[in-house]
Amino acid sequence: MKQDMILILDLGSEENPRLAREVRAMGVYTEIHPHDLSQQALRALPNVKGIILNGGPNRVVDGAAIDASAAVYSSGLPILALDHKGQDTLPESGEDRERVLRGFVFDRCGAAANWNMDNFIADQIELVRRQVGDKQVLLALSGGVDSSVVAALLIKAIGKQLTCVHVNHGLLRKGEPEQVVKVFREELGANLVYVDAVDRFLDKLAGVADPEQKRKIIGAEFIRVFEEEARKLQGIAFLGQGTIYPDIIESGTKTVKAVKSHHNVGGLPEDLNFELVEPLKMLFKDEVRQCGAALGLPDSMVYRQPFPGPGLGVRCLGAITRDRLEAVRESDAILREEFARNGLEGKVWQYFTAIPDLKSVGVREGRRADEWPVILRAVNTVDAMTATVEDVPFALLQHITARITSEVKGVNRVLYDLTPKPTGTIEWE
Ligand code: XMP
Repeated sequence: MKQDMILILDLGSEENPRLAREVRAMGVYTEIHPHDLSQQALRALPNVKGIILNGGPNRVVDGAAIDASAAVYSSGLPILALDHKGQDTLPESGEDRERVLRGFVFDRCGAAANWNMDNFIADQIELVRRQVGDKQVLLALSGGVDSSVVAALLIKAIGKQLTCVHVNHGLLRKGEPEQVVKVFREELGANLVYVDAVDRFLDKLAGVADPEQKRKIIGAEFIRVFEEEARKLQGIAFLGQGTIYPDIIESGTKTVKAVKSHHNVGGLPEDLNFELVEPLKMLFKDEVRQCGAALGLPDSMVYRQPFPGPGLGVRCLGAITRDRLEAVRESDAILREEFARNGLEGKVWQYFTAIPDLKSVGVREGRRADEWPVILRAVNTVDAMTATVEDVPFALLQHITARITSEVKGVNRVLYDLTPKPTGTIEWE
């Protein structure tokens, strides 16, 4: 193993991620684990040089104060207790913290500053090989950042022992299913099962106008299709997942309640009986992107803007029809192309088109024609909780409008959404 590790045990602090990132900023890899880490689990962690017990306001669980297991105290490893009565405490901010932490990590633990993506990847490859042995692994590959990066890592680690399943539900952006096939099957040589489930999803969604109902149908149908593919394959023992650390936090830890259940954490039927392989689960989003870049994935995959799980399904407003779905997909492709050409691609946080379920009168080739409008949205945000609207140059908006109304079938108007969040949300439904 190439990297040293400082272990952070969660004793009720809300600052575990911040502390983990602080130590990583010093060049030393960290992992965050629950307070009751067993002796066996501790032994299985490679190259642990020291342990930080990170106490805090959530230290009392079910009426009793939690503590680390005896195995931790008797491990012989250097221990730093933060926010612990009678022991080291971490000052709020400033250099003194920095000093306490550096002293612990480098002087007391003797950790080396050898955390970088190449070392991380090398270590994860070794750990995955140890875990999987000669067994088979299955992975749902959506083409999003997390599943793409985990696929690339697993291909490097176990090659043909991995089978990726890409479900095309018909709600992806233009060119996305083709890119998944090209990158993973053709360039990386993966075992890739491509499932064309477009008709199946669109039939299930026919006539359904309620957005939450649409989301439920898309999520449930996805699991059904994936499960069917899994049952067709023989000898699968593991399920690869692109779980990342923020997913774990949002799903709740032993000291913090869940914000929301996450599709990467749980979700598949238990009788499938797979053990999970989750090599990215200690990484933050920006680190996952760095990992993908280090694995040689294209920038368009690694640095892509956020895209909702239900995809274009929540941008084709109301009951989805095939013609409006094509119109939203084509107009989105034009918007993306123009943003890339005009230097806005890496600058704007999220941009897309939506198509409402209404027509208005217009003129085409000298005749009245009832067609749909397309809505453009381009927003900036830090955490997606609030958002501001991008000040797109007017001439560019006019150019995009001209292209959409001439190139996209059935669209005669283009509207730019000027609403920040709040009062609008980022998506339209
Ligand atoms: P809103 O519309 O709530 O969106 O302002 C905030 C962020 O979340 C994305 N979003 C979703 N992502 N499934 C997802 O995986 C969904 O159902 C969903 N709805 C919204 C949205 O694109 C934005 O980045």
